[in-house]
Amino acid sequence: ESIESGNFQWSAPSNIALVKYWGKKANQIPANPSVSFTLNNCKTITKLAFAKKQNTDNFSFDLFFEGKPKEDFKPKIQKFFERIEIYLPFLKDYHFTIDTQNTFPHSSGIASSASGMAALAMNLMSLEKALNPAMTEDYFYQKASLLARLGSGSACRSVKGQVVTWGQQRNIKRSSDLYGVEFPYNIHENFKNYQDTILLVDKGEKQVSSTVGHDLMHNHPFAERRFAQAHENLDKLIVIFENGNLEEFIKIVESEALTLHAMMMTSMPYFILMKPNTLEIINKIWKFRNETQIPVCFTLDAGANVHVLYPNKDKESVLQFIKDELVGYCQNGQYLCDEIGTGAMQL
Ligand code: PMV
Repeated sequence: ESIESGNFQWSAPSNIALVKYWGKKANQIPANPSVSFTLNNCKTITKLAFAKKQNTDNFSFDLFFEGKPKEDFKPKIQKFFERIEIYLPFLKDYHFTIDTQNTFPHSSGIASSASGMAALAMNLMSLEKALNPAMTEDYFYQKASLLARLGSGSACRSVKGQVVTWGQQRNIKRSSDLYGVEFPYNIHENFKNYQDTILLVDKGEKQVSSTVGHDLMHNHPFAERRFAQAHENLDKLIVIFENGNLEEFIKIVESEALTLHAMMMTSMPYFILMKPNTLEIINKIWKFRNETQIPVCFTLDAGANVHVLYPNKDKESVLQFIKDELVGYCQNGQYLCDEIGTGAMQL
């Protein structure tokens, strides 16, 4: 097939890890398996226009973010293209115009690399499929996830929903270090429409990029034990997803969040990415849970924001609690309501 020009448009959501990916080997191979909830509302929408060009020596692309040229993202895309060229040999044949926007506020401290890289990977796969129509849907999504991984590791978990695992794991069939896969077992109805309210505690620039963070797991005194623990926690979650035991779910999820931060606090150099308000919120959540027995818990990314996770049936009481007691700890009172979602979508 030969295609002169055209365009595609995809949205891809953010995701929140329950068992955290922290530490990697060469080529974005994770040091341990992870699992995440795909989100529904926080997403990137990317339009990719392409046109055949004469000179095929270099990559050629323009980048727009929220309608404006965005020069500072270009090196990241250039590096991404270099990494994936072996999988998409047509990349230098086209000039690309990448037009991208997020549904969540810019500089909210929410990482847009997962949704952004996933959305771009989906578009590139649409072109790949147009050029090679004989491809199964499974292959399409698997390769899209593989490409997204090469953009940003956790992005490979944003292609599909609702629960996605990435990284080879003894008890998960078809699991791979190369791409994320939909969780292949039954998921208990307790997790149906599971809620994630993201409290924006600190919207400042990250003190430590995830690239630097992953690197700090090399020669980290607790690395090997941590990687083994991630396997153990994933094993436990497999059982929990099937039996719906939220008490056990909470133990794993909160422990994983604190362990991620513990790894940062015990690396050299060391970092504290939580803010005082992060701890205030955690303590309030624990108090509320104790008093009400409502199974609400928290998780954290590599930053100060808090993801509040809870069952859909408790939505009303938890949102009231958030408004009454937690909003005061958010920067400008800002929080985002999200829930478990199904993955990337072509628009
Ligand atoms: O995808 P990266 O390289 O930005 O790493 C993200 C790592 C965490 O968000 C902290 C954990 C995870 O598994 O998503």
